[in-house]
Amino acid sequence: MGTVSAQTSRSPLTAPGTTVHPADAPGAPWWHDAVIYQVYPRSWADADGDGIGDLPGITARLPHLRDLGVDAVWLSPFYVSPMNDAGYDVADYRDIDPLFGSLEDADRLLATAHDLGLKVLVDLVPNHTSSEHAWFRAALAAGPGSPERDRYVFRDGRGPNGDEPPNNWPSVFGGKGWTRVTEADGTPGQWYLHIFDVTQPDLNWQNPEVREELESILRFWCDRGVDGFRVDVAHGLVKEEGLPDWHGAVGLYDEVLTEDGPQDGADADAVPDADGPVLDHTGTGRAPMWDQDGVHEIYRSWRTVLDSYGEPDRILCAEAWVKPEERLALYVRPDEMHQAFNFDFLETPWHAGELAAVIESSLRSNDAVGAPTTWVLSNHDVVRHASRLGLPQDGPRPNGIAADDPQPDAELGLRRARAATALMLGLPGGAYLYQGEELGLPEHTTMPHDVRQDPTFHHTKGEVVGRDGCRVPMPWTADGPSLGFGPGDHPWLPQPEAYAALAVDRQEGVEGSTLELYRTLLRLRRELGLGGNALTWDDLTDGDVVAYRSGEGADAVLVVTNTGEAPVPLPDGEVLVASGPLEHPGTLPADTTVWLRPTAR
Ligand code: NOJ
Ligand code: MG
Repeated sequence: MGTVSAQTSRSPLTAPGTTVHPADAPGAPWWHDAVIYQVYPRSWADADGDGIGDLPGITARLPHLRDLGVDAVWLSPFYVSPMNDAGYDVADYRDIDPLFGSLEDADRLLATAHDLGLKVLVDLVPNHTSSEHAWFRAALAAGPGSPERDRYVFRDGRGPNGDEPPNNWPSVFGGKGWTRVTEADGTPGQWYLHIFDVTQPDLNWQNPEVREELESILRFWCDRGVDGFRVDVAHGLVKEEGLPDWHGAVGLYDEVLTEDGPQDGADADAVPDADGPVLDHTGTGRAPMWDQDGVHEIYRSWRTVLDSYGEPDRILCAEAWVKPEERLALYVRPDEMHQAFNFDFLETPWHAGELAAVIESSLRSNDAVGAPTTWVLSNHDVVRHASRLGLPQDGPRPNGIAADDPQPDAELGLRRARAATALMLGLPGGAYLYQGEELGLPEHTTMPHDVRQDPTFHHTKGEVVGRDGCRVPMPWTADGPSLGFGPGDHPWLPQPEAYAALAVDRQEGVEGSTLELYRTLLRLRRELGLGGNALTWDDLTDGDVVAYRSGEGADAVLVVTNTGEAPVPLPDGEVLVASGPLEHPGTLPADTTVWLRPTAR
């Protein structure tokens, strides 16, 4: 299992009673406190029964999201694609892959969502296209030095016959980051850069045509009515000039890959802070493929495109695995993107002190640029938090779990996951939920290797298990073919046994179920305006307890999370919601979060 340590040093918490984040000004835009639900189209609902989720399936299931109480839905890519990276390899940005439906299906989805009061974000993949994109085919045909090649990153190889790659960059998915092409006359030719799969050539963002094309794609989808974009690999578009060799980490989701392949952990000297695309600890520079200053100009330009559509705001959300928080905050300056996923929060182990520290430091670094923070615990690239939090918390965060790996403690993981979500949804700012977390779904940790589809698994020859375990189709009903995912019996990835008991129809209306907990949290969060409130540390914060007050005076809501093993005392007050049973009044059990309205002290 490819892994790294997620430990980073944290600045100390300020004293209890300190308001670390001010309330939003009245009339803040919708996205400041929006809760956005990620649908992974392959795995949410399959209308035609081919085993792969599709747009008509999604449309039919949208009432689930209205009932859940989220503000918007983000759809992972549904564009025409050979599906070598589950659609993150786009061959045509202006059309829907037949697997998922048609443009008319997309229009119907948008209209239905809007009728239900849900906004819709789509995924934009600007770092690379598919090798089946018309541009890449033209680049191959046109030859070295052509304008067609200049849309991508083609270079001559090193070494006497040009048979060494232009630099030593590896691919995030394992193996080399360059592939050599055969020229039209049959001779070995230039190399092209692919930071991801060999079928995902990186675009050249120095080329004005690339910039124009992506802006035109933004307009295409805005004109169709989308409310925003999640921007894939937002920190990767611009590469350091000269493409210098790099000896550090390039892993995005946690694996550390070098030109020699995946490593467990990393050489302390080469990769001092080896949890992704990080600043070199010596301060000598960032990885040359990540977080280059030049990317910001692109997002300033995109912001003017989106702003030209007027109100309500259409938004951009950065998927940027960038450290430290101050660097990430640069992506959400007032004239750039609106949101950026807070992956530091996602990566924080189940430890009160570390959670409090990351909450405070990320609020502060975003406040410094006037942007809300965007919390997230799960997505289609990481082990689901109901399983992640059931693993030992002093260890590395794995990229996938295989049957012969140490298995998570499912019960502990779910209890902590519910507590973590209740902690998150009380916080000011926006939040993203990943499909199925509202059911408490665990990762599929015993999936047979022969059904795995993540390129990571294949390129690392199984050494890094990869992300299939979090991408398994949703269970809607405890009975029936594919647990209600669709009329077919064979979903594209098998569902683990545990999913039947967690199906939507088993949880709906059931007191204490994870689904009802999410509904209650989302309803209260909205009614009480928690997403726009000030945050003040409460003096209960100590050791195993994170405790903050959301809002001020008699209206304040106290959110308390116990990450320890023993119960802790709670102040008097009215319990609004708790992530698990509170068996003894006045005490908060281990691994539980409560929202309460304290009796005036
Ligand atoms: C990030 C996406 O979330 C991931 O699923 C994908 O593999 C890479 N970007 C490459 O597009
Ligand atoms: Mg289908």
